[in-house]
Amino acid sequence: MTDPITERVDEPEAARESGRRKMEWARQHMPICESLREEFEADQPFAGEVVGMAMHVEAKTAILAELLAVGGAEVAITGCNPLSTHDDVSVALDAVEGVTSYAERGVDDEEYYAAIEAVIEHEPTITVDDGMDLVAAIHEDYPELIDTIVGGCEETTTGVHRLRAMDDDGELAYPMFAVNDTPMKRLFDNVHGTGESSLASIAMTTNLSWAGKTVVVAGYGHCGKGVAKKASGQNADVVVTEVEPRRALEAHMEGYDVLPMDEAAAEGDVFITTTGNRDVIVSEHFEAMDDGVLLANAGHFDVEIDLDALSEMAVDSYEARDGVQAYEMEDGRRLNVLAEGRLVNLATPIALGHPVEVMDQSFGVQAVCVRELVESGEEYEAGVHDVPDRLDREVAEIKLAAEGVEFDALTETQSEYMGSWQHGT
Ligand code: NAI
Repeated sequence: MTDPITERVDEPEAARESGRRKMEWARQHMPICESLREEFEADQPFAGEVVGMAMHVEAKTAILAELLAVGGAEVAITGCNPLSTHDDVSVALDAVEGVTSYAERGVDDEEYYAAIEAVIEHEPTITVDDGMDLVAAIHEDYPELIDTIVGGCEETTTGVHRLRAMDDDGELAYPMFAVNDTPMKRLFDNVHGTGESSLASIAMTTNLSWAGKTVVVAGYGHCGKGVAKKASGQNADVVVTEVEPRRALEAHMEGYDVLPMDEAAAEGDVFITTTGNRDVIVSEHFEAMDDGVLLANAGHFDVEIDLDALSEMAVDSYEARDGVQAYEMEDGRRLNVLAEGRLVNLATPIALGHPVEVMDQSFGVQAVCVRELVESGEEYEAGVHDVPDRLDREVAEIKLAAEGVEFDALTETQSEYMGSWQHGT
C-alpha cells in the first residue's frame, strides 16, 4: 500500500509549515466553509463516517477536507490529477487530526491508481470525487464496499457525465450528488473560476500578453464562456469553436467569431480547449498553425489536444520554459504545449487553481451535500441526483450574509401570485 505523503517527502516539517500557511490564507477567504465549520464543530455530524476523497489537493481542497474532519469524519484523500497536487499542502493536510493524505505531484499512472486504492482501503462510507476515478475504482475493484457506502458527491462536469453514463447502463450502485450542476457551483466556479485561473496560469507560465492576440476557445459551455469573456476583457480577439448549434449561436450573438476548428487553426495565437471531449485539436490542425502558438487545455482530462499525433509529427521536442514543451515541426514551426495538455489552471508548475472565493462556494455545496448524505442518505436511491435546491440556497445565503449583501424576500401575495395559474390579463 502507498504510504501517506509525509513519509515520502524530504524535509516534511518545512513542507508542513509552508502548506499550513497556504491553508490559513485560503481559510481567511472562505467564509462559507468557516461558517459551516462552526456548525460542524459543535454538532459533529460526521462522527463515525469515513470520507474518501479524490480531488485536486491544494489549499482550498485542504480546507474542505479539514472541515469534514473537524465535523468528526475520518478523511482519506488523494489527487484527481497527477500534476495538480501541491506537496506542501498535502503534507500539512496529512498532519490534520483525522486526515490521511496520499496525494503527491508528478506521480505516474501506477502510483496515481495505487494512491486511489490506498484511500479505498480506509473503507469509505462517503466518497467525494472530482472526475469519478474513486467511484470507478470502487465499482470495478472493491464492489464489496458498496453496501456500506451511504453515497457520494461529484465536483466536475466530466465526472457527472461519466456518472450519468454509468447510471444509464444500470451500473451505478449508490447515490451520487451532481454538485457540479448546482447554480452555486457551475455559474461561478466553471465560468469565473476557470476563466480567471486559466488565463492567469497561461500568462504567468509564458510571461506573454493577451492584448492583440487571437485566442481560440474550443467549446462555449460554462468554462468556455468564462475563458472567452475574460480573454476578451484582456483585449484579445476571441474565436469560438462549437458543435452545439445553440451554443455556437450564443457565442455569435455575444460578438465572437465562430469558426470550425479547421479554419480557426490558422487564425489563433493561443488555443484553449474547454469541451470535456477528446480529439478537439488533431494533426490537420497542427499542420495549419502558425509558428509560436500556445496550446492549453482547461477540460478535465488530457485528451482534448492529440499529443500523440503532435509528438509523431515533431522532428524535435524540448522544454522551452517550466511548464511549456515546444514541438518543432519539419518546416521549423514551434507549437508550444502547456502543462502536458492537462488542466492548465491546475497543472502548470506555478498554477494555483481557481480563486479562493469560488472554491469556497463549490466546497460549501460539497460540505452540505456530505451532511445531507449522513442525515438522509437512505432517502436517495442508487443513481445520480440533483442537489436539493434548499442546500444550494443555504450556501448562497451564507455567502451573501458574509459579503454584507441584503436582498428582498417575496411577500405572501407575490408567492401566491407566482404559484397560481388563474391570474391572467
Ligand atoms: P459544458 O457541457 O457546459 O460545455 C462543454 C461545451 O463543449 C459544450 O457546449 C459542448 O457542445 C462543447 N463541445 C463538445 N465537444 C466539442 C468539440 N469537439 N468542439 C467544440 N466544442 C465541443 O461543460 P463545462 O462545465 O464547460 O466543462 C467543460 C470541461 O471542463 C469538463 O471536462 C469539466 O469537467 C471541466 N472543468 C474544468 C475546470 C477547471 O478547473 N479547469 C472547472 C470546471 C470544469
